[in-house]
Amino acid sequence: MIEKPFGYDLASARKLNSDLLEVFDESQIFRIDHYLGKETVQNLLALRFANALFEPVWNRNYVDSVQITAAEDIGIEGRAGYYEGAGALRDLVQNHMLQLLALLTIEPPASFEANRLRDEKVKVLEAIVPPRVRDVRSMALRAQYGPGVVGGERVPGYRQEEGVAPDSRTETYAALRLEVSNWRWAGVPFYLRTGKRLSRKVTDIAVTLKPVPHLALQTSGSVGVQPNEIILTVQPDEGVSVSLGAKIPGSRMRIRPVIMEFRYGTSFMSESPEAYERLILDAMRGDATLFTRNDEIEALWGIIDPILTAWQEDRNSPIREYPAGSAGPAAAEALLDGGRKWRRL
Ligand code: BG6
Repeated sequence: MIEKPFGYDLASARKLNSDLLEVFDESQIFRIDHYLGKETVQNLLALRFANALFEPVWNRNYVDSVQITAAEDIGIEGRAGYYEGAGALRDLVQNHMLQLLALLTIEPPASFEANRLRDEKVKVLEAIVPPRVRDVRSMALRAQYGPGVVGGERVPGYRQEEGVAPDSRTETYAALRLEVSNWRWAGVPFYLRTGKRLSRKVTDIAVTLKPVPHLALQTSGSVGVQPNEIILTVQPDEGVSVSLGAKIPGSRMRIRPVIMEFRYGTSFMSESPEAYERLILDAMRGDATLFTRNDEIEALWGIIDPILTAWQEDRNSPIREYPAGSAGPAAAEALLDGGRKWRRL
């Protein structure tokens, strides 16, 4: 079993794969991504493939855009030695966030057998065209937290943390815009953001549908009609919510969004096992469904590599700063096009 990070770029991941495969068979290797052990992440597959309701709209004809957020309020928790050489892109995007994106966008597998599911993930990851190094500036943004207040406490900025170089260029925040270039998803923007020392911890996926094609309601009634949103909350308050337009009671036809919710805490009384408990048990049983295969790891790094290169090559432009405890750098808004906005944290 190998804990992440598996390599620090595409070349090192390939080397590690080939070294391992000289000694072990792929079926004996379990590359951990603990997000795959989370109940709510697996529930993404249940939501999509155990319901007839969502799959018909799960494509470019109905989906306007997707936002995936992995916000943390904690800092680097004394892990400067690791984090300085990693940064948010390697630490969270290359693995956890791209896994969420893959499960959200894969084609229905014929079965949940390890290789069938992973075949589908590799296919969709390979459909995410890696940016050209020169285009990175327009599709990715990095920043570092400065001093601020989190949960009522003053906290230092990243460069003031113990073990961090005072001129460090390691990002603690990353935001990207990606596209899945296949028949199902072409043209739908996928926006990803993650950061340390943001205002709160939340991991969620928001799928926003396109607006209705025609509004037959009077102008005043139509003001509250918003596109439907399906929100999958990975943590905390694990669950799924769907926003619907509903009539406000009264004699006029006025609409406002209401929320239909499923919460793990109220629907199921049992405690879920910790992600690592589940994964370690699966590995002992030899079930690799929730582990990352060698070609998958390389597909993941392939998406990230040009961004790492572009950021490494840019040694001069100042690193953006956001105050600890905030929603991240204001400049991240510019990644969203078509009048879209990041959801409030
Ligand atoms: C780890 C990262 O993989 O995931 C940490 O190395 C991060 O930096 C953690 O804090 C987040 O995991 P979770 O389960 O708390 O969302």
